[in-house]
Amino acid sequence: MKKELRLFYEEYGSDKELPAGDAVLLAKAREATVDAYAPYSHFRVGAAARLVNGVIITGTNQENASFPAGICAERTLLSVAGAQYPGVAIETLAISYHHELGTSDRPISPCGICRQSLQEFEQRTGAPMRVVLGGLEGKVLVLPESGLLLPLAFTSAEMK
Ligand code: THU
Repeated sequence: MKKELRLFYEEYGSDKELPAGDAVLLAKAREATVDAYAPYSHFRVGAAARLVNGVIITGTNQENASFPAGICAERTLLSVAGAQYPGVAIETLAISYHHELGTSDRPISPCGICRQSLQEFEQRTGAPMRVVLGGLEGKVLVLPESGLLLPLAFTSAEMK
């Protein structure tokens, strides 16, 4: 039996076409890139999330001379959410970046480890996390829930 998994998302030509709330959040993610600590990759990633209580938080990538000790912007943000607002779901997460050695005119999407962390955060808070992806300029993608980025995910259900 063949089965199919589908990924639904919206594509916008630029931030100007976005719903107002998403445009605000993407602007916050873009602003946050200045706070990244990325002396090794020179790739500054900023994440901004609107919690369901309306609070906006940010996170950035924090690198380390011992490379694997570095952490991505998305997981920094999830740690802020979990530590400062325990149990509060994220309504929308925006991710942007500033490439010190290149352009930032297309969306990036979260790495594999972050996808794993995002889907578990979404699952444990019980609410879909919309995801807005955009560079400092150019087209913007909007996904209705972060779990779509990790089909057939390994979850705690498999350990029962
Ligand atoms: N990075 C993120 O912060 N988020 C992503 O989604 C992709 C990659 C960071 C990790 C590292 O500090 C730099 O970008 C280059 O990989």
